[in-house]
Order: sequence, then C-alpha cells, then structure tokens
Amino acid sequence: MVKTVGFRVDIMAEDTTPVDYSLFQYKGFNLIGNLHEVPYLDTLENFGIRDSDVFAVTYPKSGTIWMQHILGLMHYSNDLDGPVSKLTVQVVPWLEVQLPIRKNQDPATLTSPRLHVTHLPQHLMPKGLRKKKGKVIYVARNPKDVAVSFYHFHNYSLNLETPTSFHHFLEKFLHGQVFGSSWFDHIKEWYKHKEEFDFLYITYEEMVKDLRAAVVKISNFLGKQIDDRTIETIVDKCTFKNMRCNPSANYQMIPKAFLDHKKGVFMRKATPHSCSGYVKVTGCPLIPLPSQLDLYTQALGKVGDWKNHFTVAQNERFDEVYQEKMKEVPLDFIWDIND
Ligand code: PPS
Repeated sequence: MVKTVGFRVDIMAEDTTPVDYSLFQYKGFNLIGNLHEVPYLDTLENFGIRDSDVFAVTYPKSGTIWMQHILGLMHYSNDLDGPVSKLTVQVVPWLEVQLPIRKNQDPATLTSPRLHVTHLPQHLMPKGLRKKKGKVIYVARNPKDVAVSFYHFHNYSLNLETPTSFHHFLEKFLHGQVFGSSWFDHIKEWYKHKEEFDFLYITYEEMVKDLRAAVVKISNFLGKQIDDRTIETIVDKCTFKNMRCNPSANYQMIPKAFLDHKKGVFMRKATPHSCSGYVKVTGCPLIPLPSQLDLYTQALGKVGDWKNHFTVAQNERFDEVYQEKMKEVPLDFIWDIND
C-alpha cells in the first residue's frame, strides 16, 4: 500500500514534529512514510546518468555515512580543509531523499562528478546506470551486526517503530519487515545484477580491518590519482574517532524531531567520548553528545558486537535463515574481528 505523505524532512529545522513514522512499500521496497516521497521516487528511474556519477549503495547500518565521508574527502582531495564547512550529506547527498538543499534542483545542472549514497535496491536505481554508465560501490556488512546496529537505531529514531525487544526486532529483520526490506534480498539482488554495473563490492569489515587498503581500493576504482600523503590524511579523517567528533560527518545535526539524541548516537561504538571541541558547521545546529552516552559507547568493538546481543537460540535461528537464504550466493562475511 502506498501511503500519502504529508510531511517533509527539513534537515536544518529543529522543532518539526514527526507525524507518521510508519513504513510504506514502494515497488516492493519498504521506505519511511515521512521521509520518502512517491512523486520524487518516481522521477529516479529517468535520472539522467553521466559517466562520472558515483553511487554508494548500502543496506541500512552497513557503513553508509562512512563511505559518504570517504567519497566526500576524495572529492576534495586537493583541498582537504574544504569539506569541513559543508555537511557530508551536502557533498554526497542521498539519492532517494529530497532534502531542502536539493529541492527544486535539477540534477542535470549539478557539476560533475555527482556523488550519491542510497539504500535503494537495484531495481529502483536510475535506468541509465546499467550498461556500466556511472559507478556503483556496494558496501556490505555482516547481517548480525547490521541487525544490532539497526535495533539501536530504532530505539532512538523517532521515525521508526521502537522495538518492544531485541528478540521481536530480530524476527522483523529476518522477515524483512523493516525499513530497507530484507537484508538478504537487498544483497542478493545487487549481487545477481552486478555485471550490469561498473561495480565495486567492499565490506564494512574490510574497512575496519585495513582502512588504508580500503581507501586505496576505492580511489583506484574511481580512477583517482591521489598521492600517499593525501591518502593518509583521508584515512585519518575517516577513522571512527575522528569522524565521531566531526559534526559535518557524524549526523549529530539531524533534528531532534527525527533522532532522540539523548538515547543514542549515529556512530554508536567508540572508546569513551573524548572529542576536543566541535567545529561549527554553517547552518547546522550543534547538538553536543550528552556525556551519559559514554555508557552506550564503551569499546564494544566494531565487528562482532552481535555476540553481546544474540542468545544462543537467536544465533542458531539466524544461522538457519542465513544458510537457507544465502545458499546460492558465494559471499563470505567476517563475523568477528579475529576471523
Ligand atoms: S545509516 O543509518 O544506514 O546511514 O547507517 P550507516 O552509516 O550505514 O551505519 C551506521 C554504522 O556505521 C558505523 N560507522 C563506522 N564504523 C567504523 N568507522 C567509521 N568511521 C564509521 N562511521 C560509521 C556506525 O558506528 C554504525 O554502526 P554501529 O554498529 O551502530 O556502531
């Protein structure tokens, strides 16, 4: 059922009230009622693709804002102080969300290269992207950690249903009854169609294990000539610690109407909070991280956090579903940082 959407996200607004956090299905894919708009989504099919376009594609909670930040820094690699004055979300906007910064903006008038992030499945992407026009970077993350990250996100997102328990949420996740639909369908559909795209597959876990190698891999894929010193700078700016303290990248500017900043942070895991001062981003309300959040963020480890949440029975159930759904897909995941 397609719902009528009567509310629009204003990323700069502070006190808008969410009126509807339920999901709706758009061509088989679950989206958020007060964030995504059908008339705009309908235009994406014919979004005119240029060879230089880059789309970072993820299932939710798989490293989207991390890749968004990396792409933004690569774009500004000749002037790495540039992006500080701009939100990452402005440099690398969401494809499926029409934020005010791009409202009424004809994509055809934007300068190249146009960089985007998206959670959309393959079948909802602009038609022109197939036949290897433009580039796609698919970031995948092991689905147990995705489920845990998504669960926490639901607990502080005011746009999404608050789970009654982790167990209940996990069942919804396994059934694809969440924003982004099924993790299994998302990755399988993209993987099956990857030959139609100029496609790079990379995992969150390989980025955690060797961020420098991942940054080099991405820059090679994009055909960028970036010298070693600049690569080091990009890597440094993309570490968890530095991104978490950078308000242009850490999504703390999302208005209180959408995220309850007292309950959580986008970048959940970290060593105890030690950001030394914030950089003010023009037009962006500064929401300092409350110190009690340190309790949430004690060194949980970025890979394998699921072990802190799954019971033995939940793990067995998950493995059973995973084996069944992924049997025809030759993909391996890192489930533990020591793997
Ligand atoms: S969203 O809502 O879909 O855009 O979320 P997404 O950005 O895909 O995923 C959020 C998780 O990514 C983690 N993250 C990082 N991990 C390591 N290093 C860096 N630099 C980084 N940036 C974001 C973030 O902490 C979320 O994971 P969890 O497990 O919840 O901490």
